[in-house]
Amino acid sequence: MSNKITNHAAYLTKAKAHPLEVLEAPLTALEPNAIRVRVHGLAINPIDHILQAQGTSLAFPWLKYPLVLGIDVAGTVVEIGTSVKNFNVGDRVLGECMGTDKVHVDSQSAEAGFQEYSVLREHMSSMIPDTLSFEQACVLPLGLGTAACGLFQKDHLGMELPKPGEVVPKDRTVLIWGGSTSVGTCAIQLAVASGYNVITTCSPKNFEYCRALGAKHCFDYKSTTVVQDVVGALRGKVCIGALAVGANSPLVCMNILSKHDFKSTKNEGTHPARKFVSVVSGPDLVPPTERLATLRTISRFVAFGVSLLYKSWRHSIQWKFVLGTEPARNEVGPAIYNDFLPAALKSGQFRALPEAMVVGHGLEKVQEAMDVLKAGVSAKKVVVTLV
Ligand SMILES: NC(=O)c1ccc[n+]([C@@H]2O[C@H](COP(=O)([O-])OP(=O)(O)OC[C@H]3O[C@@H](n4cnc5c(N)ncnc54)[C@H](OP(=O)(O)O)[C@@H]3O)[C@@H](O)[C@H]2O)c1
Repeated sequence: MSNKITNHAAYLTKAKAHPLEVLEAPLTALEPNAIRVRVHGLAINPIDHILQAQGTSLAFPWLKYPLVLGIDVAGTVVEIGTSVKNFNVGDRVLGECMGTDKVHVDSQSAEAGFQEYSVLREHMSSMIPDTLSFEQACVLPLGLGTAACGLFQKDHLGMELPKPGEVVPKDRTVLIWGGSTSVGTCAIQLAVASGYNVITTCSPKNFEYCRALGAKHCFDYKSTTVVQDVVGALRGKVCIGALAVGANSPLVCMNILSKHDFKSTKNEGTHPARKFVSVVSGPDLVPPTERLATLRTISRFVAFGVSLLYKSWRHSIQWKFVLGTEPARNEVGPAIYNDFLPAALKSGQFRALPEAMVVGHGLEKVQEAMDVLKAGVSAKKVVVTLV
């Protein structure tokens, strides 16, 4: 790659620093299965502002400062590693950055998204159609990886992987709590593409949005009757478990599975009914500006964990935490990013949603974008364009 190219990144220079600082960043040598991408569009995820506000020591102790955050990017390939087969220089791609993943601790900042040139792994990147803008394409990666981990990994819900264009209906229903989130948006589309029936929850204003993604039933997660509503919708169906997205939702999903009559449904075939919750979200975090925030956040996690263990034991429900970057370490990552997504995006079977909310242009806007997401969005993805 030309030595004339310089790179800049939005750095978190030390724990809890605000704002991020735009500084020159190194361009490291590519590993054989990596591609270097000129980032045109990047999206913000809750984990970005959570790591900035709470620090890395509790959840990601291997991350070291100064640190570049960011997981979702779309752009143009400018260099490929020696073993790369699926991509060429000039290709338009999206990809899930592996920078926060423990396995990539040595290349942490190089494999992060908030920079001009980011490194992606071939098996966690997809070609995008010419009709899809970079700013809209970058909304997908972490939502996609997280949904795919929970739905398809054998140690999670173990659903059948989708194949482009080929939907084989299955007499199976999955509960996806939080359908209007970025994760939920991808999860509904992936489950439907694999032939499963989806029941979901979101605010009533997003019912149409979730139905258009393919959900059969939508319920308001804030309603006092939501548990009985979902239990009613599940009646007589072969339920294969739940993907719980949204604060405290794993506990509510366990309440629902504990009330569903698993015995009355036929339990034959390759994917039997199962009491399983893929846990995407934990409890609500206490904002760091509040009194005793760290202590109160830890106590919320302890209470959440104890409730999860108790409900799981009391109702014989299995569960597992989802890690959105984990599909990079098994067959699910390449099955989704290389085999399914490029063709499904091209045919319209899978859509790059939620809609991008472009906060601004340039790395200097990344902090503002993180603050916008932290304040809350509804069925939108906060995006910054760089080119
Ligand atoms: N474990 C992992 O690896 C992983 C990876 C990515 C994300 N996550 C977690 O997954 C969650 C969603 O992340 P995201 O990026 O997809 O979020 P997002 O797109 O920013 O979420 C915004 C949406 O959240 C919905 N929402 C808020 N509270 C909810 C609740 N209690 N139940 C259901 N929906 C709720 C709102 O729905 P309405 O507007 O319809 O009310 C809103 O549309 C977060 O908790 C995040 O930390 C975990």
